[in-house]
Amino acid sequence: MEKKIKELQDKLAEAKLGGGIKRIETQHAKKKLTARERVNYLMDEGSFEEIDALVTHRTTDFGMENEQYYGDGVITGYGTVNGRLVFVFAQDFTVFGGALSETHAEKICKVMDMALKNGAPMIGLNDSGGARIQEGVRSLGGYADIFFRNVKSSGIIPQISAIMGPCAGGAVYSPAMTDFTMMVENTSYMFVTGPNVVKTVTNETVTSEELGGASTHSTKSGVAHTTSANDVECLEDVKKLLSYLPQSNKEKTPKVPYELKDEIREQLMSIIPDNPNKPYDMHEVIQGIIDEESFFEIHKDYAENIIVGFARLGGRSIGIVANQPLYLAGVLDVNSSVKAARFTRFCDCFNIPLLVLVDVPGFLPGTDQEWTGIIRHGAKLLYALSEATVPRVTVITRKAYGGAYDVMNSKHIGADMNFAWPTAEIAVMGAKGASEIIFKKEIAEAEDPTAKLIEKENEYAEKFATPYRAAQRGFIDEVIVPNETRKKLLKAFSMLEHKEVELPKRKHGNIPL
Ligand code: COA
Repeated sequence: MEKKIKELQDKLAEAKLGGGIKRIETQHAKKKLTARERVNYLMDEGSFEEIDALVTHRTTDFGMENEQYYGDGVITGYGTVNGRLVFVFAQDFTVFGGALSETHAEKICKVMDMALKNGAPMIGLNDSGGARIQEGVRSLGGYADIFFRNVKSSGIIPQISAIMGPCAGGAVYSPAMTDFTMMVENTSYMFVTGPNVVKTVTNETVTSEELGGASTHSTKSGVAHTTSANDVECLEDVKKLLSYLPQSNKEKTPKVPYELKDEIREQLMSIIPDNPNKPYDMHEVIQGIIDEESFFEIHKDYAENIIVGFARLGGRSIGIVANQPLYLAGVLDVNSSVKAARFTRFCDCFNIPLLVLVDVPGFLPGTDQEWTGIIRHGAKLLYALSEATVPRVTVITRKAYGGAYDVMNSKHIGADMNFAWPTAEIAVMGAKGASEIIFKKEIAEAEDPTAKLIEKENEYAEKFATPYRAAQRGFIDEVIVPNETRKKLLKAFSMLEHKEVELPKRKHGNIPL
């Protein structure tokens, strides 16, 4: 018996070393943690249970039968993060560069199936040279098996991908189909085709970092939802993100203990500038509404004219979608519409109530926007909000003009409670544009056309650039004093806590893609 136990212990000790000390040192020299160190950091101490630690690959081509490593380049298993069950895979770059073989894929698929069956989040820590070149199509099949499971799990359990090294070729499509892609600065990159192929095909010279590093994907492409300075910060972000999410679509969001105190927030009284054309930072409004230090922003540096992120209100998670007047005056354009639509749909999948803060002058005009399809992209946000059945509350702080008024969680598309501040301007268009059109003849015929335009502009603004026309119709449920916004929202979301919506049976809707 002793001998048998020693044999097991030796095997497990070998498995723990992955590709060996030398390769572990190389990994550390690149300022990266090993797969095992990452899993241990992510999980509550002592909670990780490894599965398939002794799996090896089955390839015999190119002398591969002589190069076997226990675990085959990926660590898989389950454990807890802040006391809640999660499933995880972590690719081990020290074994064949974390390249994906048939067996490596089978291990990932096994934990994905377990996560789905047991209704718990699936977290992938990616660090891989892609398909295991020695295995050919078997490894491609392995990728497809994973993609298929990503789609099967979508909307049922949260799926989070941390990119902590290379992720290239077909490998990118699993993270792309998960809910969140979180990248590490300077050590991770993602692209469909690498710099060498790019040079051959398009003659562009570009580094891996420029083509698909964390800063590229967090500012230009929007592929990365968050970025972090190093592995540890990235794993901290994964834990933080999890804290806002339910385990699955069957559960409500977790509630953290929170003592309600004086909920009047005076700082909200002085944010909106007297001049309606002056910008202000919508983050200040968000901070004035939510529980202290509870905002976790998603896509922080991408399409900054809209803000999305998670927060807590009285201890309960909410998702926030907010126009940002500080960038492009908060207009809706292609990227901001897609960003907000995707976030809205995530919240709706996972029972996270939505708060929409509105200060929007309209859609961004121009050939660039029209030709890149602002019609179909803007429609995504309209569609996503219209179909969302979670509690939905709107606060219009200032502008709500034109079609963008409808899109931004108006009463007409199913919002539950719509508030407006007295500074709200809810109209078809701004006073100047409106006057130029409807009083065109009168202005042209006036002795002093400029003075006439100003007179008409003021007349229009007084009549329509207010929340009261909308309130008269019941399109706004209540016009509120800014300092009582948090109090009103606490009550509204509490009233909506048991909201239920019955939908007619259908296979799925046809969101404009
Ligand atoms: N299949 C099999 N082995 C792979 C591999 C793959 N796709 N990618 C890397 N490896 C192995 C390397 O042979 C090397 O093995 P060794 O430790 O026995 O020498 C080890 O992983 C580390 O790779 P290395 O190239 O030394 O690391 P690096 O940090 O310098 O470069 C990559 C990393 C990912 C940029 C580079 O390995 C690479 O370009 N890999 C191929 C990517 C690819 O085209 N994948 C297939 C298409 S999806």
